[in-house]
Amino acid sequence: MRKVAVVEKRYAKDAIRFLLENDMLDDSRRISRSNGKVEIPVKSDIELPFPYSIKEQEKVLYRTQYEPFREIKKRASEIIEGEEELLPKKWERFGDVLIIKFPEGMERKKELAKIYADVLKCRTVLEDVGGITGIKRKPLVKYIYGDRNAETTHVENKIKFMFDASKIMFSSGNVDERIRMAYAGKEGEVVVDMFAGIGYFSIPIAFYSKTNVYACEINPVAYGYLKKNIELNNVKKNVTALYGDCREVAPRGVADRIIMGYFKSKNFLPHAMEILRGEGVIHYHTTCPKSSFPEEPFRDVARAAIDSGKRAEMIFHRKVKSYAPSIIHGVTDVKISEGH
Ligand SMILES: C[S@@+](CC[C@H](N)C(=O)[O-])C[C@H]1O[C@@H](n2cnc3c(N)ncnc32)[C@H](O)[C@@H]1O
Repeated sequence: MRKVAVVEKRYAKDAIRFLLENDMLDDSRRISRSNGKVEIPVKSDIELPFPYSIKEQEKVLYRTQYEPFREIKKRASEIIEGEEELLPKKWERFGDVLIIKFPEGMERKKELAKIYADVLKCRTVLEDVGGITGIKRKPLVKYIYGDRNAETTHVENKIKFMFDASKIMFSSGNVDERIRMAYAGKEGEVVVDMFAGIGYFSIPIAFYSKTNVYACEINPVAYGYLKKNIELNNVKKNVTALYGDCREVAPRGVADRIIMGYFKSKNFLPHAMEILRGEGVIHYHTTCPKSSFPEEPFRDVARAAIDSGKRAEMIFHRKVKSYAPSIIHGVTDVKISEGH
């Protein structure tokens, strides 16, 4: 049973937010439009606080394509007979670039990569050799097949993200959070994205919520793409890109909302308090043991607030994704107010 909630366009933003907050959005399928209405995949029968109807999705659009794997397996069986079970069943696809993690010791990877590229109609294949590292969050990938230029444009929720997949990370597991952030702001408010990357959150929140965003980024390659993506998505009027360490380049006393999308940002909290225009909301991302979420990140934000003579109140939290065994990536929304 693949159900969708059908809502009028004007309710779509709030319905998506409601479903995300109540863990009822089925994120394995895509949101689509039909007859001027928006069809949002849901996990089960639900009740929405807006006019809606529920129906079976006519054409199921999966985010990850499982069907092509059959064809990949068929073609690969000619070169790795008997070892088909080792073939990766999942991959990351950004625009026309594929990232595949092969099991250790897998042979004939180049030929296999060509099969994946042909079936999935991709131009370049990179091998994931070990995740994402360092302050600048660079992915560890190796060129394996096709065009050596791994620059691509990935479209998500109608936003164009251009980046070089061999140099810049793009977390497909954060898709729900990018969608939530797109609608989190209010028209005209000032947002400071302290760790903007290529504009993962800055561009959706400027585009959909019509906020004015200061986007800070320290990595020159990511900063270059941030500038390009601002142009590509026509949000030049709304987004100001600032190159450098957010502790230095972010303006002070301006923000109604701050996005801290970097796991090691605890030491940046005192700076966030200075960046706020008195009061506001901080979206604080962390990795932490499942058992101490959201108390641990909230405590850190609250401590920084108190140290700056402010008050903190947790208004929302959600697990974004699993990070490691019993460790999650979570986001905590904290409202900061003046006074103790
Ligand atoms: C993890 S990425 C952003 C991930 C993104 N929020 C997502 O959803 O995929 C964090 C970014 O912060 C940048 N960064 C790290 N330290 C910084 C600092 N002190 N000032 C500005 N940017 C910084 C890194 O270069 C990187 O591009």
